[in-house]
Amino acid sequence: MYLTLDEERALEGEYGETVRKSMEILVALGKIYSADRLIEVESVQISGISYRNIGDPGIEWLESLNARVRVPTLINPAGMDIHRWQDMGITEEFARKQMRILNALKKIGAKPELTCTPYYILKPSKGDHLAWSESSAVIYANSVIGARTNREGGPSAIASALTGKTPRYGMHIRENRAPDVIVDVNLKLKSHEYSLLGYMIGEEVGDRIPLFIMKGRPSEEDMKSLGAGLASTGGIPMFHVKDVTPESNEFDMPKERMVVENLENPQGCEDPDLIAIGCPHLSGRELKKISNLLNRKVKKELWIFTSRYVRNRIPEVIRKIEMSGARVYTDTCMVVSPATERFGCVMVNSGKALCYLPKLSGLRVKFGSLEECVEEAMK
Ligand code: F3S
Repeated sequence: MYLTLDEERALEGEYGETVRKSMEILVALGKIYSADRLIEVESVQISGISYRNIGDPGIEWLESLNARVRVPTLINPAGMDIHRWQDMGITEEFARKQMRILNALKKIGAKPELTCTPYYILKPSKGDHLAWSESSAVIYANSVIGARTNREGGPSAIASALTGKTPRYGMHIRENRAPDVIVDVNLKLKSHEYSLLGYMIGEEVGDRIPLFIMKGRPSEEDMKSLGAGLASTGGIPMFHVKDVTPESNEFDMPKERMVVENLENPQGCEDPDLIAIGCPHLSGRELKKISNLLNRKVKKELWIFTSRYVRNRIPEVIRKIEMSGARVYTDTCMVVSPATERFGCVMVNSGKALCYLPKLSGLRVKFGSLEECVEEAMK
């Protein structure tokens, strides 16, 4: 793998031990994936930073880092709302350790925007190279924006943040972004069904990039849900929607085709004690829709997740939602926080939450549309 003189120097330790180790990680990754060289990235997103995921060894490693990020770096949701963790039922010990993780990341210069929708804050452009790591953010960046990022692990994302580089392989190379299979969707989908479609098709396509042919034009939020579902049950970092996503007409049509005639709605339980919306984190437009649907007090716990960035921009909408008794939490989500573990049956409108809540928290899950979720909370 070709390295510039400056990269060689970094690898020899000229910029300190943390940068040397970071460069070592990137070069090792590059060799595994036969990258020809390193390329510069515009931004980084670091995931896997909930104390629930990385525990004490993770804290010690993060606190040992002694360098500053070289490109804008955001962080994925943590295990709690950093201001309202008590309200969520998070223990003091968990909160203390989670704050140590966040302080270590702030010390290296990462921005404490704890979200899986970094594209609402950083807004990359088509063709930008990134080193992002949360699967729904990665698939959105590649597919809906046309930026280029592999799905980084926690250490490789941090290595990219501290060097501003990533090895050139996978999604950074145009030919690897071509669709492998046409998925003909013979249905007119409602918004929440994009999420279900992703959940269903992810497993079937595996690591092949699908080119969807849809009846009707999905919104950006529909594609956010579709991507999150796809990336949770499948391993893919990209999809195309014919005539909608920016690279959908740049490649030859694949020969393989599958047809979707109907969607199954898997129901793990009937009577939810928690309704959780916001996986991935909600946009301002989605929050406005929820505030309009909430026309009376909620009778069940309704937790809504978004980024602090989005929350702070629409205080009136948030106030109206919370007047109903619902809670709008930031910095975290129903999957990465241990707060949901005390419930038995959770209702969601997200294919990704449907996939992970049973696996990670042992919860039973009911799936419904946004409207049905809000209605269930007010019942
Ligand atoms: Fe985001 Fe959490 Fe879902 S990180 S995509 S809200 S699992």
